[in-house]
Amino acid sequence: MAEGKFIVFEGIDGAGTTTQSKLAAKWLRERSLDVVETAEPTDGAVGRTVRRALSGEMPGREGREVEPELFALLFAADRLDHMNRTVIPALERGQWGISDRCYLSSFAYQSVGCDLGWVRELNRHVRRADLTLLLDLDAEAAYERLVGAREKHEVFETADNMAVVRANYMRIAAALEQEGEKIVRVDASPPAAAVAEEVRRAISDWTPC
Ligand code: TYD
Repeated sequence: MAEGKFIVFEGIDGAGTTTQSKLAAKWLRERSLDVVETAEPTDGAVGRTVRRALSGEMPGREGREVEPELFALLFAADRLDHMNRTVIPALERGQWGISDRCYLSSFAYQSVGCDLGWVRELNRHVRRADLTLLLDLDAEAAYERLVGAREKHEVFETADNMAVVRANYMRIAAALEQEGEKIVRVDASPPAAAVAEEVRRAISDWTPC
């Protein structure tokens, strides 16, 4: 049986990776594809620790900063668990995997505080995405969306940090394309339905389905 395809949605907080990955999965199912939807951080054991660290509630670390290196290691460990537990078995069964974030998130976010080469090394064995949809949104606009949506913000959700992460996404995506990865940038500023239309077009152009 042919291996399934692995599609990943990436972008800064507020760009709409969760909304768009769900809409794309629904659309692919309507086209009779068997789709497994996942997200990072995962809901597994390491992923739960990541979420607590993100909200400043890691046991024993309350009120004390979690080091950028520890975040990088936790995200990489969660990813290994995600891939081995869910994504790889699904692809081997011929299903398609749609993930809300994967290794490019670590490259863009963790390289703010850690050496990018080291972060890439931690993720060296991760299966690469067949298609990455990079939802691009101005950091100010993304921050406004978050302010409207939530009362409490996670550690990486500040306007300054988001601008740096956005620039990292663009720079690192270009480098990955040079290495042969397929990455499509999608303007995430229009309403969700219009962005979804662009996403469908990008997927159709990449493979007829
Ligand atoms: P997010 O997609 O916002 O999860 P949720 O919608 O469930 O809160 O991810 C949480 C945060 O973690 C977000 O700021 C992006 C960040 N992140 C990293 O810094 N590195 C990573 O490798 C991943 C997967 C996420």
